[in-house]
Amino acid sequence: MSGSTPPPEWPSLEARRAGFERMYASDPHRFAGAPSRFSDWALAVLRAHFPRGPVLELGCGLGRDARRFAEAGYTVHATDYSTTAIDRAREWPGAPAGVRYEAVEAATALRQTESGTLVAVYAHALFMMLPESELETVFRETLRVLRPGGLHLFAVRATTDPVAGRGVEVAPDVYRRDGAPAGGGRGAAPYRFFRRETLDRWTSTGFERVAAELVPEIHFWFVADRRPP
Ligand SMILES: C[S@@+](CC[C@H](N)C(=O)[O-])C[C@H]1O[C@@H](n2cnc3c(N)ncnc32)[C@H](O)[C@@H]1O
Repeated sequence: MSGSTPPPEWPSLEARRAGFERMYASDPHRFAGAPSRFSDWALAVLRAHFPRGPVLELGCGLGRDARRFAEAGYTVHATDYSTTAIDRAREWPGAPAGVRYEAVEAATALRQTESGTLVAVYAHALFMMLPESELETVFRETLRVLRPGGLHLFAVRATTDPVAGRGVEVAPDVYRRDGAPAGGGRGAAPYRFFRRETLDRWTSTGFERVAAELVPEIHFWFVADRRPP
């Protein structure tokens, strides 16, 4: 675990992880479906820049997108802090060669990675759940581990989502559900929504923007930034 202490309105990393363990234990079909729509978009961007190479996925769940990237010829280090999710991903029938799964928290997975080695860091639907301090580490470490020109591919929920604004705003565009259990797990964690200015701010921490597209029907931003070549 990363060891950084989240601000008081966020449950600890361990409590959030335990919340996801409970979710995966109670719902075996969660995130078990077809690869995400974002993986189509991200794979097209990645192929245009690097036809092969090592990719790190953060928050991979059951590995649906990791398998997709491996089938397309990339070597994928697929990571998630839920051991239940990773165990299930490892047991997936017919899994392609080229994926290595590891139960590890996102910032730690990045810290363990050698500098300048990856063609992409990929995260689908993860960053909404991280406090600012963990996001800062993830963006800083991503810049370090990417090759020059390497891509940071991520999808995040947009402020256009009708559920944005519900509950208590604990930080700009970050909401905690009314009546959320104190100190509890997943349901208790605040949820972050992104607007273009926020994305631009993260890009300006050292990346260059390749593309950022708001997909209105699902209220998601699809983002590709890169380490300057
Ligand atoms: C919304 S799910 C998406 C799963 C997967 N990306 C997919 O699309 O199928 C978010 C995932 O991120 C994981 N997660 C949340 N916070 C994490 C963290 N700090 N480090 C690693 N994994 C995390 C959860 O366990 C969960 O599997």
